[in-house]
Amino acid sequence: MRTIKIAPSMLAADFANLEHDIQMVNQSEADWFHMDIMDGVFVPNISFGMPVLKAMAQHTKKPLDVHLMIVDPDRYIDTFASLGASVLTVHAEACTHLHRTVQGIKDAGMKAGVALNPHTPIHMLEDIIGDIDLVCIMSVNPGFGGQKFIQNTYDKVRKLRTLINDKNATTLIEIDGGVNAANASKLVEAGADVLVAGSFVFSAENPTDTIKNLREVANA
Ligand code: DX5
Ligand code: ZN
Repeated sequence: MRTIKIAPSMLAADFANLEHDIQMVNQSEADWFHMDIMDGVFVPNISFGMPVLKAMAQHTKKPLDVHLMIVDPDRYIDTFASLGASVLTVHAEACTHLHRTVQGIKDAGMKAGVALNPHTPIHMLEDIIGDIDLVCIMSVNPGFGGQKFIQNTYDKVRKLRTLINDKNATTLIEIDGGVNAANASKLVEAGADVLVAGSFVFSAENPTDTIKNLREVANA
């Protein structure tokens, strides 16, 4: 059986105590750090940029899963590689030449991820799925943490799982937005491999236990 990865989203961390929250994730059963980079153009919000990511990366002891919600991400592929990203995810909607961008990410030594907004159909990845290491299915409209999970996500995950199997691809399926212990098992059953969780983890009374529980529920 596959092991489901848990990736806490640092967007929901306490920005005045980032080192504290990073150490919590380091010591928890989490698998990756999910880092949300927003530019105020592709999404109607600005999160944090390279200097903050660089400072955070000095303390992180787990792979960095960097989610770029920015226009024209090709401009910064090498920058994020040098900052230590393991997975670099771009939005399909932000890339005119997605195949070129994906190759560029891999050439820079990172795993290539492609994120799909809630309105973007799975079938647009049909001819590129074999080149992608991870597909991030957005289960909320990107830009903010703490939003309500969109129910149509389950159907999309099933469609993506079918596409991956049909093409004999090894692409991981990541779910981002509104993930919690109540929808985790249904997402895994539909085919998810990586669960991103922001507010569910960081607004919990005990984030370490919440990560452990989410991992247990997902892997049950
Ligand atoms: C949304 C971000 C998410 C967000 C998830 O644009 O991509 O990673 O932090 O937050 P929650 O888990 O609170 O929905
Ligand atoms: Zn994200």
